[in-house]
Amino acid sequence: MSKISAAITAVGAYVPDYVLTNQILETMVDTNDEWITSRTGIKERRILKDEGKGTSYLAIKAAQDLINKKNIDPKAIELVIVATATPDMKAASTASFTATEIGAVNAFSFDMDAACSSFLYGMSTAAAYIESGRYKNVLLIGADKMSSIINYKDRATCIIFGDGAGAVLFEPNNENLGLQDEYLRGDGNGRQFLQGTYGGSSYPITEDAVKEGKQYAFQEGRTVFKNAVSNMSDAAVKVLERNNLTKDDVAWLAAHQANKRIIDATADRMGLDPEKVMINIEKYGNTTSATLPLLINDYESKLKKGDNIIFAAFGGGFNWGSIYLKWAYNS
Ligand code: UT7
Repeated sequence: MSKISAAITAVGAYVPDYVLTNQILETMVDTNDEWITSRTGIKERRILKDEGKGTSYLAIKAAQDLINKKNIDPKAIELVIVATATPDMKAASTASFTATEIGAVNAFSFDMDAACSSFLYGMSTAAAYIESGRYKNVLLIGADKMSSIINYKDRATCIIFGDGAGAVLFEPNNENLGLQDEYLRGDGNGRQFLQGTYGGSSYPITEDAVKEGKQYAFQEGRTVFKNAVSNMSDAAVKVLERNNLTKDDVAWLAAHQANKRIIDATADRMGLDPEKVMINIEKYGNTTSATLPLLINDYESKLKKGDNIIFAAFGGGFNWGSIYLKWAYNS
C-alpha cells in the first residue's frame, strides 16, 4: 500500500476593506513613505475596523471563500484548526466559533499559536492528521487581527502589521504530492525581543499597564530581523539539502511576509531568481498567521501540479522553520 501524503486541495482568503496606507501612517507617527518602503517593502495594510469583530470574523470569511470556490459541504469537514496569535477572547476557542459559523458542525476544532510561525506549524499538524489515515480532510485557517494588539503610537510596530486571513484544505493524496518534509525549530531565549507582555497569565492586565500601553505588542526590531534572516534561510537551505533539491528544482519560495529584506536574504541564500519568490507584502504588511495562505491564494492561478514550493517562516518565541510541499492541482 502506498503511503498517504497530505496535499493542499483548495485555498480561500479574506482581507478587510479599510486600507491603512503609508501616507496615513505619516499623519499618526514620525515616519514617512520612503523609510517604510525602503526598509520593509510595505505600502499598505488592511485593518478590521468594525467594533466587536475579532479574528474569527476574518477566519470565517476566508473559510467561506474556500468553501464556495471548492463547492464543498461544510458538514463534511472533520477538523478545523485556526492558527492565530490574536484569538477572539480568552478561554473560548476561536476555532470552535469559526467551525460552527461556517456550518462545520461535525468537526472538532482547536486554535494553535506559534506567533508568526503559526500557519507553518499548522501545516505540519494538519498534514500529520491526514498522513495518520484517521481524517479525510482538515481545514487550516491562518487568521490574525494584529490591529487589536498594536500601539498606533509606536512606529517600530505599527508600520509593519496588518489584518487578514487565509484558509487551505488538506486532503489525502496517493500520487505523493503534498507535504514532503519539514524542519521546525524554536528557542525561548528569544521571547524577550518580541512579545505582548501584559494580558496573559504572567502579567494579567491592570489599569496602570493599560495607561502605559503595555497591553500592546513590542519588538526589538533589529534583533528580530537578524535572527529571522539567519534562522529562516538556514531552515530553508537545510530542507533543500536533505531533499537533494537544487535551486532549479524549486518552483516557488513562499516566505513569511514580515520584511521584504528578510525575504530577499532568504531567497539569496537559496540562490533563487526573484521571479520564483512570492511577494504580496506591499499590499498587506505582516498579517502574522495569514501571510502564507494569503500568498498561496494570490499565486494560486500560477501554481502547477507537481511544483516544488518551499515555505519558510520566523516569529516571536522565537519559532521558525521550513516546509517542502509539492503542489497538487492546476487551477
Ligand atoms: O514577523 C516576525 C517578526 N517581525 C519581524 O520579522 C520584523 C523584523 N524587524 C524589522 O523588520 C526591522 O527591524 C524594522 C522594520 C522593525 C526596523 O527596521 P531597521 O532597519 O531594523 O531599523 P532600526 O530599528 O535599526 O532603526 C534604524 C533607524 C533608527 O534611527 P537612528 O537611531 O538610526 O537615528 C530608528 O529610530 O530608523 C529609525 N526608525 C524609523 N524611522 C522612520 C525606526 N522605525 C522608524 C519608522 N520610521 N517607522
